[in-house]
Amino acid sequence: MFYNFDHLIEREGTSCIKYDLNETIFGKKDIIPMWVADMDFETPTFVRNAVIERANHPIYGYTFRNEAYYESIINWFRNQHRWEIKKDWIIYAPGVVPALNLAVQSYTKPGDAIIVQPPVYFPFFTAVKDHERQLVNNTLIKGKEHYEIDFDLLEKQASQSRMLILCNPHNPVGRAWKKEELEKVADICLRHNILVVSDEIHNDLVLPGFKHQVFADLSPDVAAITITAHAASKTFNLAGLATSSIIISNPDLRKRFNDTLQHLHLNMGNLFGFVASQTAFNEGKEWLIQLLKYINHNVDFTVSFMEEKLPKIRVFRPEATYMIWLDFGAYGFSDKELKNKMIQEAGLGLNSGIDFGSGGEGCMRLNVACPRSILIDALEQMRIAFE
Ligand SMILES: Cc1ncc(COP(=O)(O)O)c(C=O)c1O
Repeated sequence: MFYNFDHLIEREGTSCIKYDLNETIFGKKDIIPMWVADMDFETPTFVRNAVIERANHPIYGYTFRNEAYYESIINWFRNQHRWEIKKDWIIYAPGVVPALNLAVQSYTKPGDAIIVQPPVYFPFFTAVKDHERQLVNNTLIKGKEHYEIDFDLLEKQASQSRMLILCNPHNPVGRAWKKEELEKVADICLRHNILVVSDEIHNDLVLPGFKHQVFADLSPDVAAITITAHAASKTFNLAGLATSSIIISNPDLRKRFNDTLQHLHLNMGNLFGFVASQTAFNEGKEWLIQLLKYINHNVDFTVSFMEEKLPKIRVFRPEATYMIWLDFGAYGFSDKELKNKMIQEAGLGLNSGIDFGSGGEGCMRLNVACPRSILIDALEQMRIAFE
């Protein structure tokens, strides 16, 4: 079966954050939005059909997650990531971001220090600060080839912290952390007795030539201090269905997370989210292979375009995710100037690097999960503005 990712889909008028809020977010209606992490590709037909079939039943009442739902997750991790998990370890949450907040509430107290690794997905900051915990920035090092972890700093910070929120793979800098890197992180966390919340929502989106290492799968000791967050939402474009899985093998940690979830009555979930996730995991392997190929071509195209036409922009080629981290530092613009130029002159809506915290200065994040024709137009608009 061939899946056509070139197909243009009109998203306007669907209350879609990416297209219907241009004016609100960028102050300009007529821009190409290339920011929020969802894709302009259609959710796979087999997933849509399963949702439609369920929707055709006339009652959408309270629903539980059945055996087949759990089996689909267990099999997906076994086949895609060689990670053996048990049904009991899997907890539903209404999203990975809610889960990060629930984990902070479950395992730390106000005033506790929590480490994040900016430039990083910005809800990591609010997950710490909104609960009066102390934010500790283990800012990544901008290397020649790619970003790296500052292990010396992490060692110092870990001795005074309760938790690390790890982004694995890393959004926005696109690293698929290597096993050796994660082993070093794990060693530090184990020695300093700190918990690791590993956000692995992008773990299926690892590009050809790279591999995802499940953090909890490094060893049984590491599993015992790890809370893993995952969802089908990024991989299969289901973000509107608010369904994710939190995987915790340590029974004590699992109970504490579950207690918080249940005390807030957030454990019921979304009927269509279950159907869609289960179908995606059961039937999505081939679709994902073709998706990753397409995204990789878009990445290749962007990298070559920049090298040829916009060599002043430094491109950090992603190892995972469909986001490309671009460094405009050579232009010497302030972050405000850069953002304005991108909107007003290039007519493009990208995320500003500074929204991802320290280390994001002078950078922007470009989402390339779109049909190639949109990408070509967008890059051409960028060339005209920045050449
Ligand atoms: C690293 C990371 N975690 C979580 C999310 C969002 O998760 P959810 O929609 O399940 O809350 C995103 C979305 O971009 C992300 O990049």
